[in-house]
Amino acid sequence: MLKKAVIPIAGLGTRFLPLSRVVPKELLPLVDKPVIHYIVKEAKASGIKEIVFVVRPKKKEILEYFKEDPKLEKLLKKRKREYLLSELYSIKELVKGISFSVVYQKEPLGDGHAILQAKKHIKKSDFGVFFADDVVDSDIPCLAQLENIFRTANSPVIGLKRVEKEKIPSYGIVKVEKISNRLYKVKDIVEKPEIEKAPSDLAIVGRYILTSEIFGYLERDSVKKKPEIILADALRRMLSDGKTIYGYEFQGRWLECGTKLSWLSSSFYLSLKDEKFKEALRGILKEL
Ligand code: UTP
Repeated sequence: MLKKAVIPIAGLGTRFLPLSRVVPKELLPLVDKPVIHYIVKEAKASGIKEIVFVVRPKKKEILEYFKEDPKLEKLLKKRKREYLLSELYSIKELVKGISFSVVYQKEPLGDGHAILQAKKHIKKSDFGVFFADDVVDSDIPCLAQLENIFRTANSPVIGLKRVEKEKIPSYGIVKVEKISNRLYKVKDIVEKPEIEKAPSDLAIVGRYILTSEIFGYLERDSVKKKPEIILADALRRMLSDGKTIYGYEFQGRWLECGTKLSWLSSSFYLSLKDEKFKEALRGILKEL
């Protein structure tokens, strides 16, 4: 069973400027919880016991969200707002049974560089990676779906989703060989291809299961030569060394939260699904 996961949250979030100057995109709300809550929830539901957050020194306040707050609990009781305690308890429940560690990425030198900072915690283990701007709404947690493949394949597995043709140039797109329903061998990764040159319409989603072999590949990239160390580049080099990487088109809805429009749409989708708010919101939409 996969026990460890890395969640890099040290990116600049420039696509959310000006908001991201004061609110990290991982704390943007989806209904009434920050994006990072959904990510940790998926990790826990997938059986993860150890989470390594990679943070930027300036952004470490994100982790305050998961900390207990006895003072606030006391205050809610004193002010007869006990009914709100369940909101705090839901976080306590979420983090129960998971150990958290934090490593720092001092400069935003790429997603691969961020993952590399977690090496001393991961050691020789296999591990999951969650990019904190991709939420998946599914019956079986997305990482658990990938783990089903990993258990027999023992090679890295990447989460994939089909995207509309005109959106292809915004994603990392894979060239694949189909193995069975939803399962592919990845042959190449092309970053943001033009529609005509795209090898498929299968985009990489921020969910990976990796082996510790990746660290050697990430280390080989020197930030002196390139401005950033990118995970997709390291995976591509593994492929050219003849290593096997699988891609799995997971079941569920990909709720992107990396750009303003995608986050608004994801927020819309989940709010309109939420038992507490859906009727009132539908009423407002009708009125509009
Ligand atoms: P993104 O590619 O979305 O980059 O990162 P970003 O910097 O967060 O956002 P933009 O492009 O400026 O709008 C994918 C994941 O990798 C993390 C991000 O926090 C996000 O979870 N990341 C990215 C790092 O931790 N460090 C980096 O240097 C880059």
